[in-house]
Amino acid sequence: MSELALLGGKKLRSQPFPAYRVMSSEEAEAAKRVVETGVLSKFLGTWHPDFWGGPEVKAFESEWAAAYDAKFALSVNSATSGLYAAVGAAGVGPGDEVIVSPYTMSASAAAALIFNAVPIFADIDPKNYCLSAETIRARLTPRTRAIVVVHIFGQVADMDPIMELARERGLVVIEDCAQSPSGTYRGRKVGTLAHMGIFSLNYHKHVHTGEGGVVTTNDERFADRIALIRNHAEAVVAGKGTTDLVNMIGFNFRLGEIESAIGRIQLAKSKDLVERRQENVRYLEGRLAGLPGLAMPAVGPGASHAYYIHALSYDRKVTGVSRDLVVRALKAELPHTTLREDEGPLLGQGYVKPLYLQPMYQQMIGYGTVQCPFKCPHYAGNPDYTLGSCPEAERAHFEGLITHELMRPGMSRADLDDVADVFAKVWSMLPELRAHEKRNGT
Ligand SMILES: Cc1ncc(COP(=O)(O)O)c(C=O)c1O
Repeated sequence: MSELALLGGKKLRSQPFPAYRVMSSEEAEAAKRVVETGVLSKFLGTWHPDFWGGPEVKAFESEWAAAYDAKFALSVNSATSGLYAAVGAAGVGPGDEVIVSPYTMSASAAAALIFNAVPIFADIDPKNYCLSAETIRARLTPRTRAIVVVHIFGQVADMDPIMELARERGLVVIEDCAQSPSGTYRGRKVGTLAHMGIFSLNYHKHVHTGEGGVVTTNDERFADRIALIRNHAEAVVAGKGTTDLVNMIGFNFRLGEIESAIGRIQLAKSKDLVERRQENVRYLEGRLAGLPGLAMPAVGPGASHAYYIHALSYDRKVTGVSRDLVVRALKAELPHTTLREDEGPLLGQGYVKPLYLQPMYQQMIGYGTVQCPFKCPHYAGNPDYTLGSCPEAERAHFEGLITHELMRPGMSRADLDDVADVFAKVWSMLPELRAHEKRNGT
């Protein structure tokens, strides 16, 4: 019988990996403190001092702004709502295009659709899986109004050339930092490298408040518009004296007092939690080095990596085995992680399918049955959502990437050794996998 668990052998590790736990008695105390005040949110959706929220919201925002060297930080109830508020604040509307990465979570692109604009997907740079100035340039049209740059997996995009291009063309740039908290680029913090930055505080992120998010900006006008969109703008503008009514249809994107109180403590922990990921990755990469056909993520010059996901580049031409079969073999050797039992081993093929391949983009059905905004009479473009339109994103997703989360704090050296031993075991059995694939296909 084969030694590979996939082919009937003994699994290398059965004991579940430890959960990623970031809550402590401090967060419990903070939540209790707020509950005892009886005021779980102080926001009012009218022009009033409480339009800006309660004491925990305000303290959280000023602490976040200080930590990120930003003039303004506005809390929101998710990164999704932060993206919507930022795209709205940028003045994006019908007829406009927003350039965005296809290799990201869906909300990075949906933010354009919310304002009746059309997402245009530019390809990723295979070095860091983010947009680059070159790939953006290839998709610019007279309709381009904004760019959403996603610092994917924890990488930081090469922002200086992107900002230079944006300045040339008068475009607003939004950084999606959901996966890259504490990130730095040439001595500056993510969230301040462009016009606005978005952070996520959902349960899966480095630090969290259950659900939550933050938008940072150094521009007072954007900060003001984000605050309005977050909190029922249309009901506030008259009292506030706002005369620019573009995109002033408000939402309720407000973060509660409990989440904000927890967020303050999580913020204080975030740098350390990111550094522990970086240490774990350093150790794991030391052990994975030298496996043929497997390359570690390259960190861009002057940039950091927060390792939300550890993305390994895989080359089938070297191993002679398809990426999908290797991933199946790796997974068969690995256990699940506590608290995420249903997901199986936290290792897989690629990330999310390039967004333009989703049914909504393929069928161009957004609002109602008339194909708005894709076929909106205000829109003169013709977006390309065909297979093949972003070859690097497709190659990464369908063939080139093995992604995993088995480097999060909580993983001991012995746990990391088991992960490395699983890779070593599967690589030592590549000839058997090659023969298996020849006989059976993947
Ligand atoms: C890159 C990226 N952008 C946006 C989001 C949306 O975050 P949230 O769940 O806080 O709305 C996520 C969440 O996974 C993300 O990974």
